[in-house]
Amino acid sequence: MKSFYITTAIDYVNSAPHLGHAYEKVLTDVIARFRRQMGDKVYFLTGTDEHGQKVQASARKQGIEAQAFVDKTAAEFRSLWDRLGVSYDDFIRTTEPRHKQVVRDLLQKLFDAGEIYRAEYRGFYSTRQEQFLQEKDRLPDGSWPELFGEVTEIVEPNYFFRLKKYQDWLIDFLTKNEDWIFPKYRQKQVLEFLKEPLNDLCISRPKERLEWGIPLPFDEGYVTYVWFDALLNYYSAVVDKGLWPADYNLIGKDILVPPHAVYWPIMLHACGLPPPKHLLVHGWWLQSGAKMSKSTGGAVNPLDLIAQFGVDAFRYFLIREMNVGQDSEFTIEQFLVRYNSELANNLGNLVNRTLNMTTRFAAGVLPAAEVVEAPERELHELWAKTRDEVIPLCEGFQFHTGIERTIAFVTATNAYIEKRAPWKLGKSATPEDQALLRTALATMAEALRLAVALLQHVVPGTTEKINAVLGHQPGPDWRSELQWGSKLNGSKVAAALVLFPRPATPDKPA
Ligand code: MSP
Repeated sequence: MKSFYITTAIDYVNSAPHLGHAYEKVLTDVIARFRRQMGDKVYFLTGTDEHGQKVQASARKQGIEAQAFVDKTAAEFRSLWDRLGVSYDDFIRTTEPRHKQVVRDLLQKLFDAGEIYRAEYRGFYSTRQEQFLQEKDRLPDGSWPELFGEVTEIVEPNYFFRLKKYQDWLIDFLTKNEDWIFPKYRQKQVLEFLKEPLNDLCISRPKERLEWGIPLPFDEGYVTYVWFDALLNYYSAVVDKGLWPADYNLIGKDILVPPHAVYWPIMLHACGLPPPKHLLVHGWWLQSGAKMSKSTGGAVNPLDLIAQFGVDAFRYFLIREMNVGQDSEFTIEQFLVRYNSELANNLGNLVNRTLNMTTRFAAGVLPAAEVVEAPERELHELWAKTRDEVIPLCEGFQFHTGIERTIAFVTATNAYIEKRAPWKLGKSATPEDQALLRTALATMAEALRLAVALLQHVVPGTTEKINAVLGHQPGPDWRSELQWGSKLNGSKVAAALVLFPRPATPDKPA
């Protein structure tokens, strides 16, 4: 069994999770579920990033201890992922002793090896971004861009990590490993960034300014810079499991350069550890063209959509709508279009027809197919083509196209039903028409079973419900579930299943 270790970014817990955070966890879950189906031994890590200035400030604002504050908000994130069916194996919090210990051990190791040194630091600091700024960050008029918030000048002794020393190594690594980052064009952006000389990285914050962090093991008067602490979660969580390096660190495009593409591989290399095998970089959910975020207001709370449409409709939309790597605008209108046309009126319709007609014409017991004529042959062929296309699409993270093909197969199955018109065949007593009727019932049910097997990693709950009403217990081997066959012969089906209730319209939400 091939092992497959995949991680998400760990979210800041200073505000509630929104649709953008949920997207990343659902996307990682879809990949994890798909790899499990393909037979990999998957290890899936997610968690929360709980130190730093912003968290300290949010806790103070609420007048509670930082630890109590992060306990509360981390639980909110975790319970949302549970609700969304995110099948993580481990949830790491950077305030846990197991993480802090690894960070401190590695810092000490780097310090002892001379990779970390003390020096006077003078510079401009952005509290909002938790980073020191450089002259090149200024706007042409000399002011600081809005995104940095309040910027203050600071002079203080600090500890620095020798980043600069590894610049050539990193360029060489990226040149030799062209496919390190998905999508590929992002790797070019990193090389572009590396054309400018790197500065060593300030990895300490004096305790007077920031208490909420991991104390440096060699100078307890300082805490660790939050990124140096947070990145190490991917390693600290599996240090005893021998799983490093990760197959994929999954992140949003805003945290690629410099943290994940520059600091992270260099930190690991300096510690004598290999970099992750790949970074997978997704785009943003936008609202009116801007990144959805708490600070811009109106960020979508996943719980609202789940309450109205169900977990699987929410997962479906996120994965169907977004081309991994690109950005996508979120609108409720578009959500409703997908919900109505693809889930309710297409997939939902196929489920209803299959159950209704099997109940009406075969006393609820699925017959065997007896005839293969042109309509059946065309559907069989379309199935083989769909399956053979969708698997490689999913392997290449093109889930949105995979779903599109699968839904096209569902559309073709509904068209097959129109063609065979079982309601007409049911009125005829000839043995030929009765054989065709049994064939039509068996064919639509089998096509439905197959289509949902191909959607299983996206909408696991729906797949399970549909299998249950078809009286089908899937076997452990997913690939063999994808063979057109006779698994449903003799199955007793349920009379009805309400999956995607009350088709809604933009004017009249469900
Ligand atoms: N704590 C850091 C990550 C540390 S990883 C060692 C952080 N946290 S975050 O809460 O700001 O973002 C967490 C993840 O959510 C990031 O990958 C980020 O790109 C993603 N998203 C936040 N808003 C988003 C959208 N509007 N759309 C899609 N994903 C975005 O950064």
